[in-house]
Amino acid sequence: MEGKPIPLLTPHTMGRFHLSHRVSTCKVFGELPQSLHNLCLGISSCLEVYFCICNQPDETSVVLLDARVVHAPLTRSRCYNNLPGEHIVLYYSQRASKGGLLITESTGVSETAQGYPSTPGIWTKEQVEAWKPVVEAVHRKGGIFFCQIWHVGRASTYGIITDSQSCHPSRLDIHKYLPCQLILCIFYNSFNRSPEALTAISDKHYITDYQPSGQAPISCTDKQITPEVQEDGTVEVFSAPRRLREDEIPCIIDDFRLAARNCIEAGFDGVEIHCAFGYLIEQFMKDSVNDRTDKYGGSMENRCRFALEVIQATINEIGAERVGVRLSPYSNYLDCWDSDPDALGLYMIHAMNRLGVLYCSTVEPEVIKVDGKVQIPYKLLHFRKAFAGTFIVAGGYNREEGNKVVSEGYTDLVAYGKWFLANPDLLKRFELNAPLNKYDRSTFYTPDPVVGYTDYPFLDLSSV
Ligand SMILES: Cc1cc2nc3c(=O)[nH]c(=O)nc-3n(C[C@H](O)[C@H](O)[C@H](O)COP(=O)(O)O)c2cc1C
Repeated sequence: MEGKPIPLLTPHTMGRFHLSHRVSTCKVFGELPQSLHNLCLGISSCLEVYFCICNQPDETSVVLLDARVVHAPLTRSRCYNNLPGEHIVLYYSQRASKGGLLITESTGVSETAQGYPSTPGIWTKEQVEAWKPVVEAVHRKGGIFFCQIWHVGRASTYGIITDSQSCHPSRLDIHKYLPCQLILCIFYNSFNRSPEALTAISDKHYITDYQPSGQAPISCTDKQITPEVQEDGTVEVFSAPRRLREDEIPCIIDDFRLAARNCIEAGFDGVEIHCAFGYLIEQFMKDSVNDRTDKYGGSMENRCRFALEVIQATINEIGAERVGVRLSPYSNYLDCWDSDPDALGLYMIHAMNRLGVLYCSTVEPEVIKVDGKVQIPYKLLHFRKAFAGTFIVAGGYNREEGNKVVSEGYTDLVAYGKWFLANPDLLKRFELNAPLNKYDRSTFYTPDPVVGYTDYPFLDLSSV
């Protein structure tokens, strides 16, 4: 590789996107009471034509990425009360570089979108304001910054006892609890609600409740995710969801539209719509979960309708040149898989082409290790060939594999998760072919604002 350009560090032109970080004049509606919210939605529809005109990308401008190394979306559970704080500013600015693309961690579009501890939101004005310094810090370093917007759907809980203040979501070991705690839980379940809450009911026990107004989490179905026994013997439990009525679906689509508008208000260059990993949009898309008999269930066209309506509404709001989509047709997380993932992925990609989606970020099927070495399945080429925009792959890539797939035209960009998490200067290390910091799984989701988060060391350049 000596002397030759490193494929991962070559430039790439992405779409025809306006990169002025223009501040929108639209107000943030997310936190208003429902009646006012509806009124504002009406006004906003009237203004839609105005915004469409104002936000037309400049046809001649493009996003010129300086490298093909993307910061993958990484949930870190450190946004206390759903707000990104100063340590989040530091984390992203550590990883930002001129012309480098960063995607944020999954960011909730509404109160009902939450299901995990301390994940950020972008549905209130306070959250939009909290994101602004993060975005500014990334832009100051010349980075391009997209916000991944999500709704967890049925991957959420309300009124469930847990013995952990951190980590993933509801670990329930029924034998550990006293009957009085279970009664308290039922009582709490009936009367007391808060949107992102771990309420202590003893020194060690908490009730997790991520849903507002005493409601069950929402989904396309009322089937609960099968409780899963973890390696440590605890059981991961999500609450039974409530099946959305057809007439409620436009409101959820509108939450995505508003969240996208809020992202632009916060200064982001665009949004990535999370249609992957068993969360709400994928719950609609995949036939292991979707058991509806209305126009949102049954055929592939019907199952993809919700995803495509979300994408269309987001594009109408902020322009196709600012909208990326993440898909994981092969994944089976959270009981969510499809009997024909190839057809599902291709159906979505052809529809996304028609809508002019800027990029498609796709995840390899589960990566396995053989003799301690990661084996990448390379299953995404037919998707890459079918997609008209920028194509991003993720899942198990290192420097060598990344260079290989870029130089062979298998993808335009490679998203790095765990390696970027542990190496704030990943691009520099790739440039110098320097060793990488090892990642520490035990701190992926712990709440400490520093440890395992912003304390991964930079390369000591004097020793290289
Ligand atoms: C700690 C952690 C958090 C993650 N959070 C998200 C997320 O918020 N949204 C998402 O789409 N994927 C998420 N992923 C998946 C990554 O974006 C990526 O696809 C995956 O880690 C595979 O890439 P890697 O092998 O380079 O780590 C997460 C992965 C990890 C390890």
